[in-house]
Amino acid sequence: MIITFASPKGGAGKTTSIVTAAVELARRGNSVLCLDCDQENFLYKWAGRRDEQVEDGAEIPKVVVKNCAMLGQVTEKIEKYAEKYDYIFIDTPGFDSGSNRDAILASHLVVFPSKPGGFDIDSIPKINALSAQAAQIRPDIQCYLMPVDLDTNASRIETDLDFFEGIAERLEHVHLFPAYTQHRSAYIDASKMGLGPQEMNNAKATAESKEIGDGIQEIENALIDALEGAE
Ligand SMILES: Nc1ncnc2c1ncn2[C@@H]1O[C@H](COP(=O)(O)OP(=O)(O)O)[C@@H](O)[C@H]1O
Ligand SMILES: [Mg+2]
Repeated sequence: MIITFASPKGGAGKTTSIVTAAVELARRGNSVLCLDCDQENFLYKWAGRRDEQVEDGAEIPKVVVKNCAMLGQVTEKIEKYAEKYDYIFIDTPGFDSGSNRDAILASHLVVFPSKPGGFDIDSIPKINALSAQAAQIRPDIQCYLMPVDLDTNASRIETDLDFFEGIAERLEHVHLFPAYTQHRSAYIDASKMGLGPQEMNNAKATAESKEIGDGIQEIENALIDALEGAE
């Protein structure tokens, strides 16, 4: 399954969420490849720190990350590796570009992480337009909005989720992803250490990571069912 994390702006939570999802699916025994199309290469650098963890004796599952920041590389790498990996995640920079569109059109699933703050919400119309354009070319493409970095205050979570539900209901081609993350130091510390948040001994981040893995596999199973039904 090929999954792109995209957003019309930087800092939306793409790289953090890919780390969470990729480590989660690797922990479930899957082969996982990530293509880092962002010239900043934060994901690729994270993988370097993960390799150091392994050299230091950490028993953590393998997540392969390839640097794909040059134009055209993402298409080439997908063609080369699509059959070899159970999951391919594509991390993209926070602006519209030809390679972002290549990544989206090559994907079964596109996840748009979004924080509840003002500027992230301003990019929702762009997310909708991009998803609509993708769906014109690939009617089967699955586009999801994933709330991330939500306030941990218990009184806020329902309000935040209702808010995202309301947005998703109004979007024609974008659904609400069945999982979210809250603001936790485990996500920040994990990124610095080359780990996933579920490798940080934080029960709440581990539970959220599990929900994200389950969400992806639910969408994948629905796609497989639809394909089998069509045969
Ligand atoms: N659930 C979370 N809890 C805490 N911080 C988060 C969470 N999700 C994202 N962040 C922080 O938000 C910032 C932007 O996230 P990042 O994944 O780098 O976004 P992008 O890849 O879209 O530019 C980073 O500093 C990251 O640590
Ligand atoms: Mg990023």
